Amino acid sequence: MTLRVDGKKVPAREGESVAVALYASGRTVFGRSVKYHRPRGPSCFSGKCDGCLMRVDGIGNVMTCQVPAREGLVVETQNVVGSAKNDLLAATDWFFPNGMNHHEMFTAWKPLNQVMQKIARRIAGIGELPSEAVAAMKSIEESCDVLVVGAGPAGLIAARECARAGLSTTVVGDAAVAGGHLAYHCDEGARARGRSLADAALASGVRFLLAHTAVGVYDGLVLVDGANGVHEIRPRRLVLATGSHEGALAIEGADLPSVMGVRAMSILLHAGVVAGESVVVVGDEPLAASLAAALTEAGVRVQRMAANEIEAIHGRARAKSVSFRRGDKSASIDCDAVALAAPLSAAYELPSQAGAKVLWQKNRFVVDASRDDGAAGSAFVRVVGECTGLEDFADIEGQASRAAARIREELTT
Ligand code: FES
Repeated sequence: MTLRVDGKKVPAREGESVAVALYASGRTVFGRSVKYHRPRGPSCFSGKCDGCLMRVDGIGNVMTCQVPAREGLVVETQNVVGSAKNDLLAATDWFFPNGMNHHEMFTAWKPLNQVMQKIARRIAGIGELPSEAVAAMKSIEESCDVLVVGAGPAGLIAARECARAGLSTTVVGDAAVAGGHLAYHCDEGARARGRSLADAALASGVRFLLAHTAVGVYDGLVLVDGANGVHEIRPRRLVLATGSHEGALAIEGADLPSVMGVRAMSILLHAGVVAGESVVVVGDEPLAASLAAALTEAGVRVQRMAANEIEAIHGRARAKSVSFRRGDKSASIDCDAVALAAPLSAAYELPSQAGAKVLWQKNRFVVDASRDDGAAGSAFVRVVGECTGLEDFADIEGQASRAAARIREELTT
């Protein structure tokens, strides 16, 4: 199929997202940062950053990694003067190399300040209003015994156990397939585990709302957004298995296009696209190792380094080299993409809105829920899985199963 991107034809394959199609076509810069107009590209491929925002079919600020490619889809760059790659507004970054305090700039004389505000409104911000008003949709009201948010391992296990006890159970997942990060893992064994968990949940009678996002919890009502409109779901119990966001390393150049998390690069590779011809994989966790092996098998030149060795990533429209320190020697290597295995950070937004506490623990945020059964301070909600700080599959499985057992006891006695 063919997309129309900034007036040009870009080929895309059925089933892939717009962002994957654009990256496969060689585009790394999708947009510009709000204030300094620095180049931005996808860094998560899972709806968790803002690197892939573009205008799609007349609607601004669309996460293109979440939009399936469709024949004739019109995709446009936003927030630039010129093109995404050569944006005149990037002069802001050049004029203010040490940063800009826009709160106090030109505030001494009111007329000048008013002119500056007009200019700032033109330069800053992202996107414009849709070309046409979007027609109102009626929300779909429904209820169930258990609503599970998150279709990763923890969510699937909890859902399976609840459904086996005869409770009506619905799972909401952002991605188009169930399994969470296991669905895109470079290791075949991990992918098979994700598939079998999804199959077992389905066989137990779990209902799936995939490619749907739970956007809020309001007094026992969960708002779920999907292509057919908004569902207002009122469950008797809510299980939040929202997983993690890939963190970032606090180094210069970590925000350059073609620099992404190891999970993001795995998603891209799973879609049949290599992130570059010469990739640096940073980190020694198992996913980084299996990504490096899979990239090598795909014919990519891979170089690996530990997270504490890397000093900076250099480039503009994409990464060009990485400088690092090994022992007391500094060196630099060329590349055209970088995968970073940074510490994960809990996707705590929904648990926090549902009343759970968030803790700063061992250099990252986690949701304060029982590691035993996911209890998080109220009978209505349980929080399970990676977002509670668990990493080991056996621990996650135990916690999710026990959370489901408690819910079964509460709802069936
Ligand atoms: S939100 Fe699309 S790449 Fe991160």
